Amino acid sequence: MPARHIDRVPEPMIPCQRNLFDIPRDVAYLNCAYMSPMLNAAVEAGRAAVESKARPWLLTPAGFLGWRGRARGLFARLIGAETRDVALVPAASYGIATAAANLPLAAGQTIITLADQFPANVYPWRRRAAEVGAEVIAVDAAGPDGDLTAALLAAIDARTAIVAIERVRWTDGALVDLARVGDAARARGAALVLDLTQCAGALSFDVTEVRPDYMVAATYKWLLGPYSMGFLYVAPHHQNGRPLEETWLGRAGSEDFSRLVDYQDGYQPGAIRFDMGEASNFQLAPITCAALEQLLDWGVADIQATLAGRTRAIAERAAALGLASAPEPLRAGHFLGLSFPDGVPDDLPSRLAEAGVHVSLRGRSLRVTPHLWTDDADVDRLFEALGAALGHGNRA
Ligand SMILES: Cc1ncc(COP(=O)(O)O)c(C=O)c1O
Repeated sequence: MPARHIDRVPEPMIPCQRNLFDIPRDVAYLNCAYMSPMLNAAVEAGRAAVESKARPWLLTPAGFLGWRGRARGLFARLIGAETRDVALVPAASYGIATAAANLPLAAGQTIITLADQFPANVYPWRRRAAEVGAEVIAVDAAGPDGDLTAALLAAIDARTAIVAIERVRWTDGALVDLARVGDAARARGAALVLDLTQCAGALSFDVTEVRPDYMVAATYKWLLGPYSMGFLYVAPHHQNGRPLEETWLGRAGSEDFSRLVDYQDGYQPGAIRFDMGEASNFQLAPITCAALEQLLDWGVADIQATLAGRTRAIAERAAALGLASAPEPLRAGHFLGLSFPDGVPDDLPSRLAEAGVHVSLRGRSLRVTPHLWTDDADVDRLFEALGAALGHGNRA
């Protein structure tokens, strides 16, 4: 059969989902990069979870321990991993610290990071480098249209032991092509450590394609989850490593509460040994799971396409005001960093907030990060407020 000719592949678009959140009409919340609002369904799940602690006689160990596996499994589905490869952590910092405590590093070697990378993925490496006489290199791309991937590929060399980066730079949304950087790192025998806090849930990602050694994501941004919860993927060949905590639940046979004092040298299989203490957080896990179920239901590829359309339209209107942003794919589709010809006025975020528009200022760019709750009225509100703040009237 001859191939069917398709003129235009229709973009999968998700209609506005504002009704699933509790966002007043006069709030334009364009700040998912800071913290997502919680889904109404997740709030309900959280309420029920908190109330369950008022009646602990109804909380059986099997019941509350089950939350660990459920949360792990849902996140694994989101990233194309096996459930057993995912650990539960309280923060991105914890996951990075786990990687830093386990990866080999010798004097004279280098750890490659991005310039202006989030500090949680910098400080552990600076400490490790100082301890062994290695060096942390911060890679940047020249100019506003600089290509971070090209800069990383140029920086990876025979000295590189670890490439510890974020896929989407938290200040301006600059995007790294992880498959290419991963290939280059592996070719040099270097480990790949990823912080996906600013994109997990908003950009498609598959561990089998990128093959990171460690990958972490905090849940309170694009995973629409609670604060103090995160996931750490640990590649199978690192799963015999040393956890930050020696949790009793991470040990072999810990399901049998009657035999916990038969101390075990062995661990539970997979990445469970890297779990934080009290990983079966039956207060936060139900919130996390409700959010992950909704993300899986929407589908990350469709979320990605929808948000890319939204930020593209904002970028075009911003350009008419003289505000620049990098084009895709140099920036991530869900994440817009606007730069101002004379720098972002310091008081701009607070002036916009007074007008009900919530964005954030990081480094030299104004982050505009909408999500599926965003509608056209929010975007109009943004441009009215921006126009007023910049003295352009309502022209935008
Ligand atoms: C890229 C990135 N990683 C991590 C975090 C949060 O780190 P942690 O979960 O350790 O507080 C943030 C918060 O802004 C971030 O932007």
